[in-house]
Amino acid sequence: MQKILVARPIFPDVIERLKQYFNVDWNDGDVLEADEFTRRLADCDGALTAGDPVGAAVLAAAPRLRVVSNMAVGYNNFDMNAFNAANVLGTNTPDVLNESTADFGWALMMATARRIAESEHWLRAGHWQKWAYDGFLGTDVYGATLGIVGMGRIGQALARRARGFNMRVIYHNRSRVAPAIEAELNAQYVSKEALLQQADHVVLVLPYTKESHHTIGAAELALMKPTATLTNIARGGIVDDAALVDALRAKRIAAAGLDVYEGEPKLNPALLTVPNVVLTPHIASATESTRRAMANLAADNLIAALGVGPQAGHPPNPINPEVLGKARA
Ligand code: GLV
Repeated sequence: MQKILVARPIFPDVIERLKQYFNVDWNDGDVLEADEFTRRLADCDGALTAGDPVGAAVLAAAPRLRVVSNMAVGYNNFDMNAFNAANVLGTNTPDVLNESTADFGWALMMATARRIAESEHWLRAGHWQKWAYDGFLGTDVYGATLGIVGMGRIGQALARRARGFNMRVIYHNRSRVAPAIEAELNAQYVSKEALLQQADHVVLVLPYTKESHHTIGAAELALMKPTATLTNIARGGIVDDAALVDALRAKRIAAAGLDVYEGEPKLNPALLTVPNVVLTPHIASATESTRRAMANLAADNLIAALGVGPQAGHPPNPINPEVLGKARA
């Protein structure tokens, strides 16, 4: 039987599915340190990860490894050049999380615009003595301009929600989406600068790459309206968190909503001292049904890539399909 490492705790019934095909080493505890992760992969044919870094050194130490299945749509934890050089397949879990993630992006944007977390903390702290005409004044969402950076599947799901809020939708993306999609979403392509200048609510949903590192830093925050909000449901590192703290403190923008952070699960401690930011612990896809769908899709990818099960040889979500069928290098 082939051997796999499941590097993170996941639904036990998904582990049972995997056990039908594989000898499973399951880490049902804390996140593995890099050296232990590498050691436990050494005699494995496949692995199921969720954000664990996999690069050339890890692959070199695991000569049998043929596939790493990431339980996430983002795979910035994979060094794809190293995967390609070693003929190791990477897979991810797109699509099944689009709507839950867009729902959450919407919720975080609204909580940010309407100061829901900040006012709740104030209420819980016992400060509420009287109604005030100017208590927690926020920024309107209905009828406002939504700026989406990254118009992939989740960006498009966000844009669809904007119709019900009568919003103008502008977007920026590496490449313009097809005219038919722009028409369906009533979304207008603009430069990043124009988006930052015009949007009342900026939402980030782009993948994290070397090129997208610090897409939003001090210069970009300076372009935004002082009444605008910034929501990041993409990846830490897309926003320069230190620059964001400065902008929030100086009220150069009204507020921010963050689900992801540079260096998470550690975060810039200054963020905890700023009232006009809503902070959530990377939970945008976290509904029971979506996380189950992601875990099962990650298992489907692993099972198929290792040549067993009903889709043997045809994993549904190969990131680098060109290595399929090639001998491990
Ligand atoms: C979560 O962050 C994902 O990439 O799926």
